[in-house]
Order: sequence, then C-alpha cells, then structure tokens
Amino acid sequence: MEEVALDTTIRLHAMSPSDQAGHSTCACRRAKMAPVAPPDLLMPAPATPVPGPSHDAATLRLSVAPMMDWTDTHCRVFHRLLAPGALLYTEMVHANAVILGDRTRLLAMDPVEHPVALQLGGSDPALLAQAATIAAGHGFDEVNLNCGCPSDRVQAGRFGACLMREPALVADCVAAMCEAVAAAGHAIPVTVKCRLGVDDDAEYSRFRAFVDAVASAGATQVIVHARNAWLKGLIPKENREVPPLRYDWAYRLKRERPDLDVLLNGGIADEAAALQHLQHVDGVMLGRAAYHDPHLLHRLDCALSGRAPRTRGALLVAMRPYVEAQLAAGVALKHIVRHVLGLFQSQPGGRQFRQVLSEGSHRPGADWELVERALAATGWPSAAGAG
Ligand SMILES: Cc1cc2nc3c(=O)[nH]c(=O)nc-3n(C[C@H](O)[C@H](O)[C@H](O)COP(=O)(O)O)c2cc1C
Repeated sequence: MEEVALDTTIRLHAMSPSDQAGHSTCACRRAKMAPVAPPDLLMPAPATPVPGPSHDAATLRLSVAPMMDWTDTHCRVFHRLLAPGALLYTEMVHANAVILGDRTRLLAMDPVEHPVALQLGGSDPALLAQAATIAAGHGFDEVNLNCGCPSDRVQAGRFGACLMREPALVADCVAAMCEAVAAAGHAIPVTVKCRLGVDDDAEYSRFRAFVDAVASAGATQVIVHARNAWLKGLIPKENREVPPLRYDWAYRLKRERPDLDVLLNGGIADEAAALQHLQHVDGVMLGRAAYHDPHLLHRLDCALSGRAPRTRGALLVAMRPYVEAQLAAGVALKHIVRHVLGLFQSQPGGRQFRQVLSEGSHRPGADWELVERALAATGWPSAAGAG
C-alpha cells in the first residue's frame, strides 16, 4: 500500500494493541523456522522448507499489483475481463479490519475474479493467522503479506516495508498463517510482497536472508518490488520512483532459489519489457501501467495465452452485464467507470471518452447509456478495428 486514503483509515486504525505496541504474540513458531543469517553471510538454501500449495506456473506469469483505492472488486472484474489468465490482488486490508471490520465491504469479491489474492497488512502472527483463515474461508485463492509499504502510518503500526528489518517476525507471521490456513482445511498459498531492502541497505545477502526466512516458514512465492523503500524523507509516491530499480537482484534470487516462485514488480511498462523479464523470473506483476493503460494488460495476457486480442470497444461492451447488474443493486456508475477511464489511452477520441465518463458518471441516474455515449466519442463501432 502506498497512499493511505481517508476512506481506508478503518484498515489502519483497526490495528491490534500488539501491532501498535510493536509486540509479537507468537513466539511458539520460532522452533520451526530456519535461523536468519547475519546480513553479510550468504545463507545456503533452506534445508527443510515447509511444503505448501503453489499456483500453477501459468497463473504466476502475469499479475496485477495490489493498489490501495484502485484494485477494488469493480476494478478486478474489469481486469479479469481484460486478462483471463492473470492473478489479481486486492488492496491491502489490515488483519484486524478483516477480523473486526465490515467484511461485506472489505472482502467484497465477485466470483468471476478468481484467481484472486487478498493482501493483508499486519505483524501480529496470531491476528494474521486468524485473518488468513477468514480470507481462505471467504474463497480467496492466496493470502499475501505486505512487506513493501513505506508510509508513515504503516511504519507507525510496525508493518509494511519496515518488516524487511524483522525477518524473524515475518517468518513467525508466515508460519502462523500457513498453519492456520492448513488447519482450517484450506489449500491456498501464503505469499509475501517485499522490497529489496529499506533505506540504504545495499547487501544482496541481506535481501536473500529475508527471503530465505519467509520461504523456510512456508511462503511459496515472493513478489519483489525491485527497489528499496526509503522509510524517511520520501512520500509513498516518491518511493515508487526514486530508489533505483535493481531487477538483477530478483533474477539472481530466482537463479539461486529455483524452487521458489519469484514474481518481479516495479516499472514494467510495456509488453517487450514484461516478456524479457519472464525469461528470468516466474512472473511479472504490473501496477500503474495496467491501471492507466488497461489494454496493455489485455495485450500481454493475449501474448502469453495465444488468445486473439479484442478491441477496446468490444472489451468495454463486454462489461455491460456486470455494470447493469451493479446499477440494479444500487451501485453508482461512477464507482465502476472510474477504472475504465484509461481504456482508450493514446487512442483517437481517448480524451473525450474520459471526459464524457468523468463528467457524466457523477450525475444521479447515470447508466449504461453514458458509457455508450463515451464509446461513440471514440468512433465505435465504425472504428472498431482501431479501438
Ligand atoms: C495507488 C497505488 C496504491 C498502492 N497500494 C498498494 C497496496 O495496497 N499494497 C502493496 O503491496 N502495494 C501497493 N502499491 C504498490 C504497487 O503494488 C507496486 O508495488 C508499485 O506501484 C510498483 O509497481 P508498478 O511500477 O508496476 O506500478 C500501490 C501503488 C499505487 C500506485
């Protein structure tokens, strides 16, 4: 999670007292974890990794990043339509909010979204275990732990990127989540999304020791946002741009830990780059590029699956049954169409498309007819081929 907006405060305010005080409640897992090496030592591969379920290789190849305020259920339904083969991630939800909050809203998910992972925030193993079990019972296909968010408020709660400095605690969390999910009879992976390090960390060995610790605890997959997080002095937005990307660390991790699923994230902006990274890692995760230019997500999914690309207009029209069902259920059009504004990015009529939808969708009674009008501004259907 990078920007923590106001309507998400429940997720952050719902932190447990132990999260807030910075105490772990679960020391009992320690015995099952591999020791964490000093940062300057290269650790050997974990000798006895805890076996856990994994996604199949095809599912891992393309995913859409968790993005607070963006990847809600409407967004994910749209992304599923664009990319039937992609793994989708929710926004981050704090474990305590999952346990105590309004689950209908926080865990909203449409059946078409599968496979979809719930991203959790937190650092209390017992709470995370409980939240992971709830998520699995709710039907999520994976539970992911956020170790990458640098925001001040998240740091204050002792979760997100600052956990990169606490590999033993993260391993406790992962082990507790794996155990609880399995004990409840669910076979879903527990995974971690992390950075390369924090602040001026510059040792690959420290990064790999972190990954080894979470893998030994049962994480089957790591998503590497391939830059450091600066915990002081940079706002979250800058933390997605300023620290330099180091894709070579993720490539090296995959070479040295071939049994671990390694997904690469950060700055992947076009098909050529994604396909090139896939020669080195198991999967690529796209965030901003997929959101701002959704047709890129579609083209990439087609390139990986061999499916024939569909036009932007055809893809939008395919959203109609979902949009009309949501309108009938009382959802305002603006909550859905805000996610499609980039569909005609850099295309003829793209600006008008965006304008018609942004201006009109806030009006009471806005319905599918507005979408048709926006589409007409792009020349659809006469320009269907170009769309
Ligand atoms: C608006 C926004 C919200 C984000 N929220 C989250 C989040 O909830 N959890 C998380 O792990 N990362 C979050 N991120 C970071 C992205 O998942 C991703 O790691 C980052 O944007 C780099 O990938 P990209 O260059 O493909 O965008 C967010 C990013 C953006 C732009």
